[in-house]
Amino acid sequence: MMKSIETKDRNAGLGLALLDDPINNKGTAFTVKERAEFGLEGLLPPSVESLDRQVERVLHHLDAKPTDLERYIYLTGLVDRNETLFYRTVMSDPARFLPILYDPTVAEACLTFGHIFRRARGMYITREMKGRIAEVLRNWPQSDVRFICVSTGGRILGLGDIGANGMGIPIGKLQLYTACAAVPPTCLLPVLFDIGTTNDALRADPLYLGLKVTPPSERELDELVEEFVQAVQQVFPNCCIHFEDWKGTDAIRVLARYKDKVLCYNDDIQGTASVTLAGLTTALQIVDAPLTEQRILFFGAGSAGIGISNLIASAMQMQGLSQDAARSRISLFDINGLIEPSRADLSASQKVYAHKAAPSKDLAKTIETLKPTILIGVSTKGGAFNQQVIEAMSRVNERPIIFALSNPTDKAECSAEQAYTWSKGKALFAAGVQFPEVTIKGKTFHPGQANNFYIYPALGLATYVARPRRITDECFIVAAQASADQVGPELRAKGMLFPSQSQILEMEVSTATRIAQFMFEKGLATVKQPADIRKWIEGQLYSPHY
Ligand code: NAI
Repeated sequence: MMKSIETKDRNAGLGLALLDDPINNKGTAFTVKERAEFGLEGLLPPSVESLDRQVERVLHHLDAKPTDLERYIYLTGLVDRNETLFYRTVMSDPARFLPILYDPTVAEACLTFGHIFRRARGMYITREMKGRIAEVLRNWPQSDVRFICVSTGGRILGLGDIGANGMGIPIGKLQLYTACAAVPPTCLLPVLFDIGTTNDALRADPLYLGLKVTPPSERELDELVEEFVQAVQQVFPNCCIHFEDWKGTDAIRVLARYKDKVLCYNDDIQGTASVTLAGLTTALQIVDAPLTEQRILFFGAGSAGIGISNLIASAMQMQGLSQDAARSRISLFDINGLIEPSRADLSASQKVYAHKAAPSKDLAKTIETLKPTILIGVSTKGGAFNQQVIEAMSRVNERPIIFALSNPTDKAECSAEQAYTWSKGKALFAAGVQFPEVTIKGKTFHPGQANNFYIYPALGLATYVARPRRITDECFIVAAQASADQVGPELRAKGMLFPSQSQILEMEVSTATRIAQFMFEKGLATVKQPADIRKWIEGQLYSPHY
């Protein structure tokens, strides 16, 4: 925004405005000619630097910071000053910067968001704007918004309801569209949908920046969401709505209502299921067994457990099984034990997986009875996969596939070290958090992290280029297969179930190519199919340079 300053020369205002505009600012990289032309002379030190020299200085600054949270705060300041320099820095080494921009550092940043706040990014749409949401969205300066990532802050990572502090999530998620998959940043809009918060401590915090009220009834929330979704269609007609970190029941209801009506998806539900399927697909390639012959036991039957079950069942159907046959291969176990028909406390989405079996509250015994080939933990019950459980899985399988997806780390059902040790190195293991590598009897294992960033940036890139009318569950199955196909024999030999992070852009482009191809085949895409999809995508990638 142009500052109101008294000036004799209009050029003076222009120079300062340019330095204050993160999209066009080049800082010390403005050339001598540009400095003269835009009224920048005297406002910058005399040395004209290259972008790479500027990156070098940023890296020095980052090295001097004592913690990743400090690095997060520094990078947030950088993106507010100079977006090109920010992306050049983070894209120079994604494996280093992803854990700072996103999980786990973003969790820490969200907890203290109101306190570390410097300057607003994205938009805050609040329940108080009811009736005027479209008008407010028009305040955003870019007209061609292609992605809105929107959160209520109602269920952030493992942190519960943190209301407007959740703004760190849409910001970070969208930065990964660019950092991982080179989607142009100007078409991305983070939105915090502020409906209030149930978090008493936050409402009492004077530095909390959101509405200090409790969330409205489900009916009122649905009305607000309907207005928001329609306003987005009106103001940004080419926009895909990425729902992220809403309270579980709201997330499921909102996705069910809109997934066949507008261009949207929910990363917690669909992205999570897809990355889990990706890891399973790699594990099954290692043991050379088809998905359609697996027996899968979930420990935890909440939104993650049901979401993953449904996508796996759909993937089995795509590979030829009937819906009933697919569902019969999946069982779930929750806080009240095995889900079976005599249980009176089951939801409709759980009932479809209630297969005839004796009631059980003992996980290890259930494993001996059902003989699952795959065990997936999404329970939030840290340590639930004890020695007895891992040994039971190892008794009924030559190579047990064990995923302990609950996070943060203390909630993981078991650690990588426990899984490899108790299975005597046989387990094919992945977790929701990144565990360090483990060496047993001279052999080193590299535990995989089922991180959604293997999926959703590629899906975003495919959506950016192919402009589909809808994003279907099948798109996520294709993404999972594409991710699995990129884990080469060398990585598999080390127990890795996901592609290497060091070549993330290459990997996301390959996955996006497969998704876009599928969108063309299924008639979802609205643009003309090019002769060479990969080259066509490569030609549209954002590249951070002046
Ligand atoms: P949720 O609260 O909807 O479901 C939890 C489920 O676990 C419920 O079915 C509950 O009955 C069951 N449970 C709780 N305590 C139990 C116990 N002692 N024994 C047996 N079952 C128990 O939670 P949601 O959203 O499904 O998430 C579960 C976990 O999965 C969280 O830690 C979440 O962070 C993690 N997660 C990890 C992802 C990833 O790695 N990419 C993605 C999504 C979720």
